Amino acid sequence: MQKLAIQGGNRLNGEVRISGAKNAALPILCAGLLTGDQLQLGNVPDLNDIATMRKLLLQMGVKIEVDGDQIVLSAAHVDKLEAPYDMVKTMRAAILVLGPLVARFGEARVSLPGGCAIGSRPVDLHIKGLQAMGAEIHIEHGYIHAYAPQNNGVKRLKGARIFFDLVSVTGTENLMMAATLADGVTVLENAAREPEVVDLAHCLIAMGARIEGAGSDTITVTGVDRLHGASYRIMPDRIESGTFLVAAAAAGGSITLTDTRADILDNVLEKLQEAGAIVRVAGNTISLQMNQRPKAVNVRTSPYPAFPTDMQAQFMAMNCIAEGSAMVVETIFENRFMHVQELRRLGAQIDVEGNTAVIRGRAQLEGAAIMATDLRASACLVIAGLVAQGETIVDRIYHLDRGYEHIEAKLSQLGANIRRVT
Ligand code: EPZ
Repeated sequence: MQKLAIQGGNRLNGEVRISGAKNAALPILCAGLLTGDQLQLGNVPDLNDIATMRKLLLQMGVKIEVDGDQIVLSAAHVDKLEAPYDMVKTMRAAILVLGPLVARFGEARVSLPGGCAIGSRPVDLHIKGLQAMGAEIHIEHGYIHAYAPQNNGVKRLKGARIFFDLVSVTGTENLMMAATLADGVTVLENAAREPEVVDLAHCLIAMGARIEGAGSDTITVTGVDRLHGASYRIMPDRIESGTFLVAAAAAGGSITLTDTRADILDNVLEKLQEAGAIVRVAGNTISLQMNQRPKAVNVRTSPYPAFPTDMQAQFMAMNCIAEGSAMVVETIFENRFMHVQELRRLGAQIDVEGNTAVIRGRAQLEGAAIMATDLRASACLVIAGLVAQGETIVDRIYHLDRGYEHIEAKLSQLGANIRRVT
């Protein structure tokens, strides 16, 4: 089991390049299933989740060439329409092959995702949407079996109006992909507005899909008979960007992120300024300077463009050593406070009542051995380790490797005293 050993107390200074967005790359890799032509992708992050998705597509018969951050997919000879449990259980995003498989091949067999650390995370909205498009769905032995309706011998989904009872990012992405090849028009209402949904839509449009309204809560897709190949560059990762900015706001210092985007981080940048950081944006760089102890900031997670749930744990870490008290309210997932117990081991003063945590900032945390429980919680614990006095050992960092490319190398580059130990 690999761990990270962190000696706290160093300020962060320097420049770091932001990688491609995990949560854009995952659905866009699945979009490769929608055509037999080549899909060429650039700026694909080197992450465990991306490797898992590649493995999943390879076992279906997709040809994949990898050259650094470039990936070329060709789904001309897909011969297995299945996402097996052993792959889905490690990565919930595997559900994103469901829509493309049913849309292009007329059927799919996808394992139900197990629960995960941050909540039950059902896929009922994905299934309901496909049923609205005429798909026949049976759930047996832990698998979703989905079949497109047949009309005059052709298996093809039908356009439909789909209303999401609640905002679902991958639910929106799955059904948007399915709708690109459906017969007729599909309208997704109460759709997710996340930038990663927009990035997927841009890639699909480059492949010949007809999509309007991506980025708004109503997305209209006019089905076409087939999609063609394209070449597309994945957007920068806004959560990786936010994570480094919060780390610098907590530890103090002056950093510049390159190859990133500020227009999709408004809410996070505002919160960092509220905490006392000086934030400057210039083209595709964001600079942050923090010369004082951060002020505590309240956060309440909500679907985009409101404060992202994937940044909640990181801000909690900063609030642990901030001046004053803060309230953190998690409205998206029912169990996304797993990091609280671990932060308390470092001396953090946090009270939790339901989906609300109250953090009373302390001047100092003490290093200790702690354990990561999920992806963003592990980033939170790394930030806490950077500011705690003495050594902090973060265990189970395989969670971290799912979503952050070479994080200890990037943090060391900024002056952190952090190393990977086995
Ligand atoms: C995506 O997960 C992201 N993952 C998550 O990022 C992110 O936290 C989440 O969106 C919210 O922004 C990817 O994009 C790969 P949801 P997703 O469907 O799509 C409930 C990370 O750290 N729901 O938007 O799985 C669900 O239980 C990960 O990179 C249903 O009830 O999340 C949750 O409470 C963690 N039924 C809420 O909706 C459904 O059919 C939002 O879930 C679908 C979802």
